Amino acid sequence: MTKSEATDRITTLRQELELHNHRYYVLAEPMISDQQFDVMLKELEQLEAEHPELADANSPTQRVGGDITKSFVTVVHKYPMLSLSNSYSREEVAEFVARAEKEVGRTTYVMELKYDGVAISLSYLNGELVRGVTRGDGEKGDDITANVRTVRSIPLKLRGDFPKELEARGEILFMRAQFDKLNAERARNGEELYANPRNTAAGSLKQQDPKDVAKRGLDNFIYTLQGEHLPSRSHYENIQAAHRWGFKTPDPKRRFIERADSVEGIMAFIDHWDKARHQLEMDIDGVVVKVDDRNVQEELGLTAKSPRWAIAYKFQAEQAVTRLNGVGYQVGRTGAITPVAELEPVLLAGTTVKRASLHNADQIAKLDLHIGDFVKVEKGGEIIPKIVGVELARRVADAAPVVFPENCPECNTALVRYEGEAQHYCPNEHACPPQITGRIEHFVGRKMMAIDGLGGETVVELVRAGLIHNVADLYDLKKEQLLDLGKGWGEKSASQVIDGIAASKAIPFEQVLFALGIRHVGETVAKKIARSVGSIDKLISMGKEELTGIDEVGGVIAQSILDFFAVEGNRSIVERLRETGLCFQGEAQQGPVSDLLAGKSIVVSGVFLNFSRDGIKASIESHGGKVSGSISKKTSFVLAGADMGPAKRTKAEELGVPVIDEEEYRRMIGA
Ligand code: IVH
Repeated sequence: MTKSEATDRITTLRQELELHNHRYYVLAEPMISDQQFDVMLKELEQLEAEHPELADANSPTQRVGGDITKSFVTVVHKYPMLSLSNSYSREEVAEFVARAEKEVGRTTYVMELKYDGVAISLSYLNGELVRGVTRGDGEKGDDITANVRTVRSIPLKLRGDFPKELEARGEILFMRAQFDKLNAERARNGEELYANPRNTAAGSLKQQDPKDVAKRGLDNFIYTLQGEHLPSRSHYENIQAAHRWGFKTPDPKRRFIERADSVEGIMAFIDHWDKARHQLEMDIDGVVVKVDDRNVQEELGLTAKSPRWAIAYKFQAEQAVTRLNGVGYQVGRTGAITPVAELEPVLLAGTTVKRASLHNADQIAKLDLHIGDFVKVEKGGEIIPKIVGVELARRVADAAPVVFPENCPECNTALVRYEGEAQHYCPNEHACPPQITGRIEHFVGRKMMAIDGLGGETVVELVRAGLIHNVADLYDLKKEQLLDLGKGWGEKSASQVIDGIAASKAIPFEQVLFALGIRHVGETVAKKIARSVGSIDKLISMGKEELTGIDEVGGVIAQSILDFFAVEGNRSIVERLRETGLCFQGEAQQGPVSDLLAGKSIVVSGVFLNFSRDGIKASIESHGGKVSGSISKKTSFVLAGADMGPAKRTKAEELGVPVIDEEEYRRMIGA
């Protein structure tokens, strides 16, 4: 293919892919199959790889993730991103209308849904997406353009009669189905579930790797336009125009947006969505009422933070009252104890609620819960409803208070509460059954050791049968042992598990590290550590100071790593896993951290506060220095910890070799 043929083909593919993307994600009217789409995308990817000079940040290939963003740049908004004043009653909405009409006379209103997501401002120049910025403080926000490009319902190129310069504002959010899918996957992988769609959307958009964002499957609605040359003075008309240019906008046919000339019309819209909101495919937390005419909007003007021409009506979080039958205590993989209220089933926001989260002991104390209490249950954005209050008047005289247990409900070990943490923990990590099974379930998960055929129930079965007690035991399992279990086990299922276990030996170090289940070391952190450190031996040798030098590792994570390897049981499991051939080494992708100690020969002596023995050596080497065993004239300096032997000190003095302490060393390496 000649260069000009390639250029033509790339242009065609880009246009077609963006067209099909729009049909699928904005209009929900696909014209081709997913496979056909993928074939075209692959072809485009290949051509772009062969012709890097034809790269385009708005190519459909960028939707699966462009370059990593190291840190998000702060950008000043051309038009400030205002917030809305909130109201919680219909009277307040009526007052808003009365206030506005007193000033400007009768006018028309637009009612919209109040999407419960993350606000975004999208700038387009000549129809090309040039920037996506978060709301931030309203004046300036973070440039998250690469992440925004992965949101399929946001057009990268506009179509039709768009103005040259345009800012489209809207909300990035999760459709409930997509959010549930993500959580189902996390459950399968033994990962902690995301609490609610809004926070997850916000967290997703702050990921540094757009490829991770692309996988989340975020969505978007545009609810306002800004620019000097918008097609109409009517906000409603502008939104319809935005739809023609390729944006996903609220659908009038589904009453996602509506116009009204009176308070009655506004109330009808509120009434409708107060009931119908639970059937929606996404979360909304209210409706927004705006004056339609932009001239009238300008006349009404702004207060300090919010416009006088718009108001949000927030729905009451739906509540129900039901009886507290008891409190159960769940023990997680890390030993964390979570109290769960067992409720008399009650209908709330479209679903039957039987359980509510109680978070921790403090929460129970704050509510002063008694068994048999009538409790107020509320469903906010969270999946699991929460108890927000007790109807004290209905409490029976001899009701027993809920007492948080002192011992683990599963293994009876005395619970502990670490300083600064709200949660209680069962410290019996190697013998408490749900912790054992929880850790093994985590270990075999798809993003960890990906062992086929070993789901949660199978793990529990194997532990109960006494075949495995920890993750290392998996590698001693024999097919015959599984067949001997009888019911449900056949040649095929047994082979699948054994083969899956064998195959897991090829899993790379970063996943193995994640699989170990060190507290706070999730998928991303494990990846960072593995890539920066390169091997488990190195990791075990590192002190707190060095650990916190790794990208994304702070004090809490560092301490958790130290605590994990301080436990003899954990070290011996790692050792056994290593002997069976698991991968505990990867390519360290970081060269020396600096050359601050280049050319220096350093003797280390004594013990240190912030480094292990191996750790301080590794630290010296990572700054380009050489560690030598004995003091000579060539020694640049002796790094002395506590307990440095007197003989060494005398020798250093004799040879005129400077002796420095840990503090000075840390200053040297800029710590
Ligand atoms: S209009 C000046 N319309 O609510 C008005 N906002 O408190 C600017 N939101 O930050 C916003 N749905 O994230 C508008 N239909 C809608 C909305 C909406 C959700 C959010 C938005 C904004 C916040 C305002």
